[in-house]
Amino acid sequence: MQQHSWRPVPPSAVGITLEQHIAQQMAMSPGATGHFTALLYQIMLAAKLVDARVRQAGLADVLGVTGDTNVQGERVQKLDVVANEIFCTMLKRGMRTCAIASEELDHAIVLDGGGRYAVAMDPLDGSSNIDCNVTIGTIFGVWRRRSESMERGHEGDLLQPGTALRAAGYIAYGSSTMFVYSTGPRFGVHGFTLDPHIGEFFLSHEDIRVPKRGNTYSVNEGNSSKWEPSMRRWVEHLKQEDSATQRPYGARYVGSLVADAHRTLVKGGIFAYPADTKSPKGKLRLQYEANPMAFIFEAAGGRAITGRAAAPGASNRVLEVVPESLHDRTPLVLGSPDDVDTFERLLVESGA
Ligand code: AHG
Ligand code: MN
Ligand code: MN
Repeated sequence: MQQHSWRPVPPSAVGITLEQHIAQQMAMSPGATGHFTALLYQIMLAAKLVDARVRQAGLADVLGVTGDTNVQGERVQKLDVVANEIFCTMLKRGMRTCAIASEELDHAIVLDGGGRYAVAMDPLDGSSNIDCNVTIGTIFGVWRRRSESMERGHEGDLLQPGTALRAAGYIAYGSSTMFVYSTGPRFGVHGFTLDPHIGEFFLSHEDIRVPKRGNTYSVNEGNSSKWEPSMRRWVEHLKQEDSATQRPYGARYVGSLVADAHRTLVKGGIFAYPADTKSPKGKLRLQYEANPMAFIFEAAGGRAITGRAAAPGASNRVLEVVPESLHDRTPLVLGSPDDVDTFERLLVESGA
């Protein structure tokens, strides 16, 4: 029988929907008021709307014969702009959000109305893969607001470290559409698959645990001439034969963080986007790419580090990085605990 890294959901005529699951989890949280549940509901709704656009993306291109107008003569908008609009609109209308940060917006949107949560998102991750029909996604992180005493939100509500996240998740628009979220290690990580016939997400991957070790590595090796030598040594190590540690590892790199992280979460292994001479701070964004993924991986028993060996007495957890601005970047290494341990050990041994 196939072994899974999640609890298979027992067959039943009636599946558990994402909305019901969120409600069940909130019932386990003493003092929950329903605001948070309502917020996640808006995110779920936006995900369904983006999914519908993603599924039409190829068609929109065909209909947009000139490349930028469709048959109605409307401009065909870029999918990341559309996704951003959908998420922002749903979050604003839902009235639970006080501040929004997005990869598509230079500045935070701050809102009146006393919403209790701040949301950072990458509305469409992996956009270079849209044109070739490869998995893309959405990533989000949710903080409780800091500016409690104020009606209007503040950019500072979004500049909290990953350790303060209340929830994080991603949606993968792949061969099926999946919504994966966590409200922290105590509650686990759960995956839901969209049933396109009725437009509802159903629990399909209960309590996902990242395997202790995997046998794939995921990194843009085309950048290796720009890496520090320790990175190159690590990749060479993974390519060497050693049956005890299942080496050589297979290489898998989609180029959409959502897809690469999702595969790593379910099958194990390691993903890395290190600093290099072109991107000395790494490429990925701390608040809406690295932190949400780090939160999910830690909640699933994995690790997520900044790709540097920790200085004595200091931490290299991504979740502990203190953000300075909304669009900060960070190097990111995440995956199975044993694989991240090995990465760290090799870094230390090479004195990096
Ligand atoms: P986005 O499409 O939101 O800008 O993100 C792209 C990111 C991420 O999804 C992926 O891991 C990484 O860029 C790929 O970068 P390279 O093409 O440099 O490998
Ligand atoms: Mn991205
Ligand atoms: Mn993006």
